[in-house]
Amino acid sequence: MITLILLHGFPHNHHLWTPQIGGLANHADCIAPDVRGHPPFSMDDYADDVIAVLDRHQIDRAVIAGLSMGGYTAFACWRRYPARIRALILAATRATPDTTESADHRHVLAARIRREGMSAIAPSQAAKQLGATTRATRPELVDHVTAMMASVPQATALGAIEAMLVRIDSTPTLATITVPTLVVGSDEDPFITPDESTRMAHAIHGSRLEILTRSGHLCNLERPAAFNHVAAEFLSTLESTP
Ligand code: MLT
Repeated sequence: MITLILLHGFPHNHHLWTPQIGGLANHADCIAPDVRGHPPFSMDDYADDVIAVLDRHQIDRAVIAGLSMGGYTAFACWRRYPARIRALILAATRATPDTTESADHRHVLAARIRREGMSAIAPSQAAKQLGATTRATRPELVDHVTAMMASVPQATALGAIEAMLVRIDSTPTLATITVPTLVVGSDEDPFITPDESTRMAHAIHGSRLEILTRSGHLCNLERPAAFNHVAAEFLSTLESTP
């Protein structure tokens, strides 16, 4: 059975992947680690943690799926440990580094987290990340995501901000990817537009692109059946190749 490592984004934890852990159980052994809460904080450190999980479970190669910040980590995994990667699923993520404006926003957010804690920022973060359709029709999912974000330890969230601020540009990495890759985007994602996902997919040789409709940034939670369908189909193509 294929092993699927599921890397969450910011400010999330492994609960982000609940619909996949159940829904993809017939297609892969799923492992969803949380990012570390102790320094040092960088995408390379997160990648080392992912490989430590593989080592601990004596897994030679795995499919790495990363959503948003999890995708930034997936790029670092590919750069550092290509031989350990069977395939990539890059969901709601980008290769480019922070702009000056987004870095400024991160500093403001970090200051607020230090001052007021995670529960103060969780409602606005959840509202920003979920798509308009989800916000209008699924209040229980809005509550669920807000609670997940509020429960992330402050040190973990601040560390993730630090790691994202110093991350390098992964654009040159895209052309180096030689494993099967699935890129997933969403039509209501305010952070990663379908155009950005399309450009990224075009830069990865032979990759597949799926744009989910009626979904925001958290496509695996907002459209779990559609996400699992495209992921399962992708995983099934791997079964016939080494
Ligand atoms: C995430 O969902 O991981 C964040 O939106 C990533 C980011 O802030 O760049």
